[in-house]
Amino acid sequence: MSGPGSSPGTAAALAAAIQAGLAGEHVPALASGTQRLMAAYRSGANPATPVLATRTDAAAYAAYRMPATAAAAALALRQTRLSLPAWRPATLLDFGAGTGGMAWAVATELPSVVAVTLLEQSAEAARLGRAILGATTLPVLQRATWRAWQLPGDGSPSVPAALPAADLATVSYVLGELTDGQQATLVAHAARAAAAVVLVEPGTPAGHRRILAARDRLLAAGYLLAAPCPHASACPLATVGDWCHFVARLPRSATHRQAKGAELGYEDEKFSYVAAVRPDVAGPGAPPGPVPPAARIVRRPQQRKGLVTLELCRRDGAAGRQPVGKSAGETYRVARKSAWGDGWDAPG
Ligand SMILES: C[S@@+](CC[C@H](N)C(=O)[O-])C[C@H]1O[C@@H](n2cnc3c(N)ncnc32)[C@H](O)[C@@H]1O
Repeated sequence: MSGPGSSPGTAAALAAAIQAGLAGEHVPALASGTQRLMAAYRSGANPATPVLATRTDAAAYAAYRMPATAAAAALALRQTRLSLPAWRPATLLDFGAGTGGMAWAVATELPSVVAVTLLEQSAEAARLGRAILGATTLPVLQRATWRAWQLPGDGSPSVPAALPAADLATVSYVLGELTDGQQATLVAHAARAAAAVVLVEPGTPAGHRRILAARDRLLAAGYLLAAPCPHASACPLATVGDWCHFVARLPRSATHRQAKGAELGYEDEKFSYVAAVRPDVAGPGAPPGPVPPAARIVRRPQQRKGLVTLELCRRDGAAGRQPVGKSAGETYRVARKSAWGDGWDAPG
């Protein structure tokens, strides 16, 4: 298995915790829930009813989606951390936590986090998520706080939720289940709660559009972009037939293969994301604000004998191709090891 992805050890540990949390669930019975979820996600439409309402839905989600959303979230957090090398967040507030995929990613990528609060509307998702996180070996997840929380529909009286403040607010694979108005409200909630906000969506054109709308809102609120964008100009990839997305490759467990009726031993999860921080976010001894890379690799690098071709989104707000030949020496060696989604700081 090659390419960016969750480390096999981490993925295996999550698979074991999911397996333990699912104890007692009959895996073949997950199939109908799995199919319903797949149809809802592929349609791209806002689901009319909550997709994680029943015990079977929650179990299907944990078996077939949670490993992938957790792997995508982990890559987004890794790139965020690289732009903020001295940043040490201690507390997490995760909106629409589902069965805890983002919390898992935070615990593995940001070990400074010591307190996790998960907000979830589905009692069944929270029950299973509690069992899964409780089955991990990570104390920060075992003692996580779960709270019932529902974002009201458009037109409902907006009751300001008394939410705890945190160093980091996350919203992973939730915006696609909300109306435009609810998305705006949720981004505002996240920005009010934390000085750092990370949002992840499926890597589809519609997912990217939702990320771009959230990016605009965070910029308007005075946040600075940490990842993936190396600039705050209009997205050069937001053109017809193109969109900014990345990929997380993850191994599939036996349960996962069974739930999805899949044969391959791995899957590629495409995702879009944005991470932004208030200008004063720093770490001990570091200057405030993020330091994004000079460019971001926005496609899988093409490797030919003696030549690597990179598709870059650059600090000047433009996107374009950069060939790196063997004659470039060290730059070529760096390019050969680079992956889709990495920052690119090499000269030229
Ligand atoms: C696709 S799941 C994502 C779960 C998890 N964040 C992850 O990345 O795996 C979408 C989540 O959004 C939650 N959600 C959808 N609409 C919501 C609303 N109006 N208020 C609160 N949560 C909502 C669902 O209950 C579900 O847990």
